[in-house]
Formats: sequence, structure tokens, C-alpha cells
Amino acid sequence: MNIQLYNKSVSNIKADISIEFFTSKNLSKHPNTKTLNQAGFKAEQDSICFLHETKILACGIENNDSDNIRSVISVAIKELKSSNYESASINIDKKNIKAIIEGLVLGGYEFNNYKSDAKEIKLQDIYLVCEDINRFTDAFSQAMIVAEATCFTRDIVNTIPHDLNPPSFAKLAKKLAKENNLKCKILGEDELKKEKMQAMLSVGRASIHDSKLIHLTYKSTNPKKVITLVGKGLTYDSGGLSLKPATSMVTMKMDKAGGCAVLGIMKAISELKLDIEVHAFVGAVENMIGGDAYKPDDVLVSRSGKTIEIRNTDAEGRLVLADVLTYAQDNVDADYIFDFATLTGACMVALGQYTTGVMGHSAKLKHLVKKSADKSGELTGSLPFNKHLKKLLKSDIADISNVSSKPYGGAITAGLFLDSFIKDQNKDKWLHFDIAGSAYTESNWDCNVYGGTGAGVRFMTNLLQNI
Ligand code: BES
Ligand code: ZN
Ligand code: ZN
Repeated sequence: MNIQLYNKSVSNIKADISIEFFTSKNLSKHPNTKTLNQAGFKAEQDSICFLHETKILACGIENNDSDNIRSVISVAIKELKSSNYESASINIDKKNIKAIIEGLVLGGYEFNNYKSDAKEIKLQDIYLVCEDINRFTDAFSQAMIVAEATCFTRDIVNTIPHDLNPPSFAKLAKKLAKENNLKCKILGEDELKKEKMQAMLSVGRASIHDSKLIHLTYKSTNPKKVITLVGKGLTYDSGGLSLKPATSMVTMKMDKAGGCAVLGIMKAISELKLDIEVHAFVGAVENMIGGDAYKPDDVLVSRSGKTIEIRNTDAEGRLVLADVLTYAQDNVDADYIFDFATLTGACMVALGQYTTGVMGHSAKLKHLVKKSADKSGELTGSLPFNKHLKKLLKSDIADISNVSSKPYGGAITAGLFLDSFIKDQNKDKWLHFDIAGSAYTESNWDCNVYGGTGAGVRFMTNLLQNI
């Protein structure tokens, strides 16, 4: 599907169908009101109606807000893709161009790599019609870059654990680095041992695949700020010896979504050529069972020197992140540190499955994230730390336990576990994003479709554009 800008003043385009927006208020003023009425179209949000004779696809919106435009375009594009129309046009303006592109690209996304007879799509061209093309080219290409980077992240998340394991994850990162002119360093198990990353290595010990630490670097000529991104890249999470129940194990290929988001963000910022230096670290590991598996009762020595009592091998993401966060802080003196992880089921209990949980000490940084999330159409919610929850991580045998002693506030206690690996001088530079709910969906919502959503890519790219 080819999306392109089209200058209205140059000539009249002849698309097969034109997409038009309707609110219940302006519905009565349209020349086609009668036909739309007959079809039962009331312009309710996300309702659509084909007027085949007049070649209009009517899209209902509550009002002109970007969120509403993106949402209904996501509905419309799916219908158009299963129709026989080959081209469609939409009138755009400065306010809605980004939402329209997101709706088209993200709402129209499909992942068919494992289907032997993916259906043929007739729709080829979408024309975004504007008055003066020059005023739109920047906004157009920026929105396309971010939407395509989000799809890139979705593709990796959706790839099955047999194909996407720690070594192939590292290979994929290398390919991205080559294509986008990034520096790429991969640490294998021997190097990880030398770097004393026993917490990360223990999680991957029962896997047939070697664990990998991926380090990508993007640097503009005169970077204004240095940013570290860290991603949980569990290519599969069986729970380890604290095995997950069968039904909870399905979808656990998505436990690499934090790492995938970090790669997507690197793709976006390097194509946007932002004036910053960004280091991406992904801990690519598979959590499996076997004679060599790490165990509940083990005590691990993390890279930081802090010892960790293992009480549940399914709380593995925080062990990988503990070492990767330490490694990142040891190697890069960053202005900001952001980590992305499908860390806890508890985050979904707290915020619902659509919202990314935001944790950290800096109210200012959390405010920046909220602003970026609102502008980019992602949902985020703050989960507050407190000293009482922190005490629940005390261990009788080691410096800290990998799980809380109480069952409540699990997303926050996981965040607090990570906090204990953030150096004092970095406390206000760091935020943790729990994307356990927002990274994957089994039903359509907003511009998200079955599978990986690419959570984190849009709001973090927006934040980095404005930092
Ligand atoms: N990867 C899971 C968290 C998760 C659960 C992500 C559901 C997406 C959907 C994580 O490694 C995990 O298993 N966490 C445990 C922690 C518990 C053992 C303290 C959880 O959330 O149950
Ligand atoms: Zn787990
Ligand atoms: Zn996990």
C-alpha cells in the first residue's frame, strides 16, 4: 500500500473512493444526508458507511480530536483492504495528518509471515490531498518514519520463538545497525562472564540458545543530550522452574517487546536524524527449564555485587535488567536512562491492559513522558514508589529478594527492585516503563491489531524529538 501526498491545486485526483469524516452535528448538512440516513449511519465514533454510488466512505467521529481520527481510520482501512477498491483519497490538514497516517499504517498493519495463503489486497494507493504540498512534506515523512518503526517493532514481537531467539535477535540488531548507520556491539556468554553478569546469565542457562547483550549506538555530529535505552529481550518466558501455567505461557514470545521497542526507537531516531546520542542495550535471553536451570533458593551475584535470592524463577526480567542497567551505567554517562519491559502481570491489574506503567523518582521526567504520550496517542499511567513496598524485597539470606513477600503492588515492587540497581547519581535520570499490557493485544483497539502493538516507540520517539 502506497501512501502519498497529493497537491489539490495541481490537478484533480481520481481515486476510486474518497474518505470523509462526519460528526453527528455536521451529518445533516451534507448533500448525502438522506442516503446516509437510509443506511442507518449516525456518525457514531468508529462507525463507517460505504456510499458506493457517490464513491464516499463515511467515517463517524465524536469530534475532530486526533485520537478519534486515528481510531476511525483504523476501522476504515481494514474494510477498504477487504474491498475491491484500488485507490482512496482523504483531505488532510496540519492537525490531522499524523493521526491519519497512524490510522492507515498501524490500523492497516497485518502480520502474515506464517500464513500460507494470505489474502490478496486490491487497495494500492492512498492519496493524502492537501492545498500546498510543501507545507506538509516534513510532517508526512516524520509520521511515516515513526509509524513504520512501530511496525518494525511489531514484526519482531510477532516472530515466533523458534525464529527469534537471542542469537537471531542479535543478528537482526546487526542488520538494523548496518542499514541505519548505527554502531553495534554484541556480547556473547564468554564476554558476559567476564563482565560478571551472573544474574543475566543464570536466567538463560537452561536454554539451548546463548544469551546475548546487544549494544547499539546512534550519534549525531553535535549531540545535545546523551540517552540510554534498556530493553527486556526475553525471547521466550516459560517461567523457568517456577513454570507458568499452560494458558499463561501462550503469548510469552512477546516477553521481548521491551527490546523490540528499543530497536524500533533506534530505527526512528536515526531516520529522523535527531540531534542526540542514544545508546540502546537489549538483554536477549530465553527463560527455560532443564537440568541446568537456575532455581528457586539460588543466590545470584549480580554485576553490581549485590546478591539476589531467587524465590521465583518467573521473575526473571528484573534479573536480566538489573545486570543490563548496571552495565549501561558503567559504560555510558547518560543524561537520561529509560528502560522498557514486559515486567509484570500486576501492571495490567493496576492500570488495565492498554496502559504503560511509568515508574521512577523524577516528577519532572514523568510529566514530560505524559505530555509525549498524550501527543503520540499512547496511554501511560504513573505508579508511585513508596518506602513500605521497598521493604517487602528484603531477603533473609541475600541482599535482596527477586520477589516481594506480599502479593499486592507487584508492578511497583518490580520497579523498586530495578531501582536498587540504579546508582544514586542517576536516580532522577531514570524511568522504568512496564509495557506488559500495552505491548501485545489479542483483539483490535485504537490503531492496534492482533499481536505486538509497538508500545513505547511512538511516545519515546516524540519525547526524544523534544528533549
Ligand atoms: N513476563 C512476565 C510478565 C508478564 C505477564 C508480561 C503477563 C506480559 C503478560 C514476567 O516475567 C513474570 O512472569 N512476572 C511475574 C512476576 C511474579 C513471579 C512476581 C508475574 O507477573 O506474575
Ligand atoms: Zn517471567
Ligand atoms: Zn518475563
